[in-house]
Amino acid sequence: MQRLKVAQALKSTAVEIEVDVRGWIRTKRESKQGFAFLELNDGSSLANLQVVIEGTVTGFAEHNKHLTTGSAVRIIGVLKESPAAGQKVEVHATSIELYGTADAEKYPLQKKRHSFEFLREIAHLRPRTNTFGAIFRVRNALCNSIHNFFQSRGFVYVNSPIITTSDAEGAGAMFQVTTLDAAKPPMVDGHIDYSQDFFGKRASLTVSGQLEGEIFATSLGDCYTFGPTFRAENSNTTRHLAEFWMIEPEMPFYELTDNMDLAESFIRTIVAEVLATCPEDMAFFNERIDTTILAKLRNIIDNDFLRLSYTEAVEILMTCGEKFEYSVKWGTDLQSEHERYLTEKKFGKPIILFDYPREIKSFYMRVNEDGRTVRAMDVLVPGVGEIIGGSQREERLDVLISRMQECGLKPEDYWWYVDLRRYGSVPHSGFGLGLERVMLLLTGMTNIRDVIPFPRTPKNADF
Ligand code: 4AD
Ligand code: MG
Repeated sequence: MQRLKVAQALKSTAVEIEVDVRGWIRTKRESKQGFAFLELNDGSSLANLQVVIEGTVTGFAEHNKHLTTGSAVRIIGVLKESPAAGQKVEVHATSIELYGTADAEKYPLQKKRHSFEFLREIAHLRPRTNTFGAIFRVRNALCNSIHNFFQSRGFVYVNSPIITTSDAEGAGAMFQVTTLDAAKPPMVDGHIDYSQDFFGKRASLTVSGQLEGEIFATSLGDCYTFGPTFRAENSNTTRHLAEFWMIEPEMPFYELTDNMDLAESFIRTIVAEVLATCPEDMAFFNERIDTTILAKLRNIIDNDFLRLSYTEAVEILMTCGEKFEYSVKWGTDLQSEHERYLTEKKFGKPIILFDYPREIKSFYMRVNEDGRTVRAMDVLVPGVGEIIGGSQREERLDVLISRMQECGLKPEDYWWYVDLRRYGSVPHSGFGLGLERVMLLLTGMTNIRDVIPFPRTPKNADF
């Protein structure tokens, strides 16, 4: 007897073999002739396995009334070619064992379409639906493909810390980590005395592993981090999470154009790989979520990205005649509406914007010869907007220190980061890819809360 996952049973070319399959009942149908048909799913594939049960099968009479949607069963039976359309094989049960029942009156996932809002409230059950099963299988394939991309190019995977005492973006949007009593913290001179806190100074959850990535890039060479990052920005949008996963490659001896080349080939490769590894789930998204998603992804794989300087982009936005909520002028950060106009309406393909004004970007980006822009790059894609932010890093000690001061940061607090510019400094670059943003791109889902298992957003950290 062979123990098979549903996915394996469905793909099996051997028939007339005895199999043992276990999973949850999606639906049951009973025929007048005393047969029952179960649609069994164990999460291994989008498609269910049909189980045919004759009235005389061991365990059937006893369990029949509990064989309802959501209940868990073990089926032993014979895998046979199926006469029915739409499936190659089915299992003819010889015995049924019931694990857990699911009260038909109470089980929230009855066979009807539920809204994504409702499913978010039952995030412990939503992975049992077709849509969320597909989403999380694709997310898994995506993570695997990301590791493959870097591993096959000799990049070293580095685990950057989650608890940190430095603000990698210098933006102040960090969640504090403390064991001090919030109601009665120890005070000195009117300030909280963090020397008495767990780490002896103020600590937070990381917003990025980049600074530690730079340490490893300037020692082990090409490397990448892949971990959770946390931002306490109060932006309640469909594209922001308070906890999200970021992939941050960092490469010594890379200038900005090398960085752009890598980012572009990275996106195109992982999109192509997920399409190849999850054809069934991707076809489902194309049918049920966004009927243009496969065509959009093909377009990304098959065509070069457009590269445009921030200055050129601002000129286009100022003269295009489009009505924007926020007006555009040189020196302001682009809003999502501007990014989406460029990538969706104007050019209809991914765009890499580069050379942004220094005032709107982080302290670590390399200052250009013009003195007013930095070697920053953002990758924008249709349907999502920004999925990658990156830059060439400032490798000149004096320029870095003056940029830090300009941004209100104390170089002493970043002494180890500054040291990298003292000892064997080299031009280097890197970028950060938001995992959930790529998930939006791949699936056509429109709310970032639906592509991470348990979303954390303002006022919400359930499950
Ligand atoms: O552009 P960001 O802030 O860049 C950095 O963090 C750099 N340290 C990266 C680097 O150069 N190593 O963030 C990078 C990406 C964004 O492009 C976006 O895809 C994602 O991270 N991101 C978010 N995703 C979900 N929710 C949020 N609140 C996000 N903030 C950024
Ligand atoms: Mg950014």
